[in-house]
Amino acid sequence: MEEIVIKGGNRLEGKVLIKGSKNSILPILAASILATEGKSVIYDVPNLKDVENLIEIIEYLGVKIDREDNMITIDATCMNRYDATIDCVSELRASLFLLGPIIARFGFSEISQPGGCAIGIRPIDLHLKGLEALGVVFDKSHGVIKGKADGLKGARIYLDFPSVGATENLMMAASISEGQTILENVAEEPEIVDLANYLNNMGARITGAGTNMIKIHGVTKLKGTVHTVIPDRIEAGTYMIAVAAAGGNVLIENVIADHLKPVLAKLREAGVSVEEEFEGIRVKSEGSRGCKGITIKTMPYPGFPTDMQAQMLGMLLCADGRSSVTETIFERRFQHIEEFRKMGADIIMAGNTVALTGTEKIDGTIVYASDLRAGAALIIAGLYAEGETRVGNVHFIDRGYDRLVENLRSLGADINRVQR
Ligand code: EPZ
Repeated sequence: MEEIVIKGGNRLEGKVLIKGSKNSILPILAASILATEGKSVIYDVPNLKDVENLIEIIEYLGVKIDREDNMITIDATCMNRYDATIDCVSELRASLFLLGPIIARFGFSEISQPGGCAIGIRPIDLHLKGLEALGVVFDKSHGVIKGKADGLKGARIYLDFPSVGATENLMMAASISEGQTILENVAEEPEIVDLANYLNNMGARITGAGTNMIKIHGVTKLKGTVHTVIPDRIEAGTYMIAVAAAGGNVLIENVIADHLKPVLAKLREAGVSVEEEFEGIRVKSEGSRGCKGITIKTMPYPGFPTDMQAQMLGMLLCADGRSSVTETIFERRFQHIEEFRKMGADIIMAGNTVALTGTEKIDGTIVYASDLRAGAALIIAGLYAEGETRVGNVHFIDRGYDRLVENLRSLGADINRVQR
């Protein structure tokens, strides 16, 4: 079994180039199947397991996809299947993004019910309720969701929670529905804006993306277009926190500072130097022991991102004083706490809040990733733990990070992937 082995204590120096956003390219790939004319060419596509798996599912539906390094060409004109029920669908929550586009294009769809994961049960009620408002009738049995509609009609839809995926699914479906759709209390993440820009360049008529209300005038046809994926703000934040934790001086290139405001604010509050330069953001730090304890509460964008919660905790284990982290988005996104405790962290959990008191040191040991961000957080802790840290379940990390080990090694970390 593969694991990532880190010998703690090295500072990080140099620069790292951020790739295209995983949480942008996944809905954009799904939206591409709405093009009944022409091809789409997409640049800055990261090399990630989740992207590979979604491409495999979309190719199964008859869409032609060619990949050349970080560029992909997608031709959906000859798409001839609507049943995304092959094996990898239930493991890949992002396959849910196909539900809206397939029904919008074909009038029916079958997808395997996506599973829950370590961070929560991950219900899909908001997706289904919104699509039903557009005229879809669902039958859910035997782990397959079957939907059908005689043409989608615009509607006014209020999301009980600003769900990122439900906002994206409904935006895609409403793009080729008849009439006007108003989506209220929607997610405002940068990835929503990136998807809206892609759809509008395909011929959709969407306004308000990035605010809590999105208006969509349905059109009859969408065409392929050219698009460059926005930089991955979570990948960028992960490297910033790695430098803050290990100590060092690193330039993070190809990052949009505006997408990371809460993370930059919290790093500065912890005493980390974060300076915007022309090519990117420079992070300087004396390491975890040089940081001050802080309080964090995860919120929907533009609040502190839940996808950065584990990494931030990984940085604070030896910070001066107390820290607390409250997770409000997912009900079970604290599986990494047990692993930090194994490393000697002084950390306790009460409900959805974790209280942490910085210790003099943490010790390397064998730990296991429970999801991709927890995996990154354990590597971050290993960068400054005494001795050797061995991180198992590396497949989680490969889902969302492109060359994380290689990049950290090139910055000076003593880190390798080995077969155990
Ligand atoms: C997206 O997941 C991201 N994934 C997640 O990133 C991210 O953590 C999450 O948004 C929140 O920002 C992608 O974009 C591919 P949600 P998504 O719907 O869309 C509840 C990562 O690490 N909910 O915004 O699945 C849900 O249970 C991943 O890159 C319902 O109750 O998240 C959760 O508590 C992890 N009913 C909350 O809303 C629904 O129908 C937020 O979920 C849908 C969601």
